[in-house]
Amino acid sequence: MADKQAKLEIGGKAHEFPVLQGSCGPDVVDIRKLYGTTGAFTYDPGFTSTASCESALTFIDGEEGVLLHRGYPIGQLAEHSSFMEVSYLLLNGELPSKSELDTFENTITRHTMLHEQLMTFYRGFRRDAHPMAIMCGVVGALSAFYHDSTDISDPVQRRIASHRLIAKMPTIAAMAYKYSVGQPFLYPDNSLSYTGNFLKMTFGVPAEEYEVIPAVEKAMDRIFILHADHEQNASTSTVRLAGSSGANPFACIAAGIACLWGPAHGGANEAALNMLQEIGTPDRIPHYIERAKDKNDPFRLMGFGHRVYKNYDPRATVMQKTVREVFDALKVTDPVFETALRLEELALSDDYFAEKKLFPNVDFYSGIILSAIGFPTTMFTALFALARTVGWVAQWNEMISDPGQKIGRPRQLYTGPTQRDYVPVEKR
Ligand code: CMC
Repeated sequence: MADKQAKLEIGGKAHEFPVLQGSCGPDVVDIRKLYGTTGAFTYDPGFTSTASCESALTFIDGEEGVLLHRGYPIGQLAEHSSFMEVSYLLLNGELPSKSELDTFENTITRHTMLHEQLMTFYRGFRRDAHPMAIMCGVVGALSAFYHDSTDISDPVQRRIASHRLIAKMPTIAAMAYKYSVGQPFLYPDNSLSYTGNFLKMTFGVPAEEYEVIPAVEKAMDRIFILHADHEQNASTSTVRLAGSSGANPFACIAAGIACLWGPAHGGANEAALNMLQEIGTPDRIPHYIERAKDKNDPFRLMGFGHRVYKNYDPRATVMQKTVREVFDALKVTDPVFETALRLEELALSDDYFAEKKLFPNVDFYSGIILSAIGFPTTMFTALFALARTVGWVAQWNEMISDPGQKIGRPRQLYTGPTQRDYVPVEKR
């Protein structure tokens, strides 16, 4: 019995529903019995006020700009942890001991190769295919190659599939890049870290030794940490919904990749850099700010605003700092960064953005770093997908392990025609 009850009156009749409390965050009115007791549904397109599941992975306080993974603040993880350690944390609930981390890293490293026959899939794509199109196809195809890890009722198979997905995603993403530039694919190098290996597979060529630059490796690893999970966002909810029908994990993650691709979600990092490059110089910023405020203009400031954060996205803070670190390490600079800083300053001092609580999000600065490292804009969302895979599989595992898990099946407010009789074509 919940301590608090919520009362709802429909047509003069009162109904009570339990109010559930999580460890942090707002209370949740449990309306699971609403339809059975009242015959009514709730209406919440976009899930703006609806908790779709119970989860112990990630907590966000959007008003305060807080993001915790298993209780640990994202700023601390980005500063002191590694992507492999955060992956272990998300999957297992606790930070690993040294030997647990070694074992986990070793396991992931041993799964980085792709089935050789998968290579032929790439050749079916046009060279100018978007890497996300390739990622959707190749990740979905994994289920045709790894039959021994598609039985979702077996926890061992679920774990193997999770490890495979986390391990193979850098190989798949790097190969998508190599294919687009017409260079040979590189096999994984197990002597390198997860992130170092990804950089080598992306930027190395067989004819030359590839040297991983430690500062770039660290920055890339941090970017992966910042993208690892973000509670019930659109792509994670897609993975959960696909998984709720019992679909295999490779198919579910392919669905997540498809959802992430959209410019309102993961595609925003690509769109943000394109926008900053289009703006060009700081003197042109006011024109774009006016466009973003104009209701009749579809233009939005990409990398600004968030469904949950009504404060500075804590990931954007780390990202902004990382831009400078990467510039210093590579001894480069980019005028686009100055444009971004000035755009942020002007937007934050503008009433429109203040009233609507629109702040820079994770995607505002990430493109500048990725571009400095050498990635083309089309790869940005693929990198997001690579990192988010751990969040997706952790959320998917959490859902499948929940004995109360049901197929996701929302209802609707129907506004179409009421029942009518079929009219033969000659009488229409
Ligand atoms: N530029 C200008 N106006 C904006 C922006 C923006 N970037 N974002 C929101 N607004 C306005 C919007 O026009 C609306 O105004 P009004 O109330 O007058 O109609 C109000 O703010 C609320 O916007 P919304 O679209 O109803 O809010 P939402 O929670 O549905 O959308 C969002 C959130 C992230 C899709 C949206 O802020 C947006 O489109 N941002 C740009 C794309 C972007 O950067 N996406 C990355 C999100 S972070 C990465 C991730 O988690 O995937």
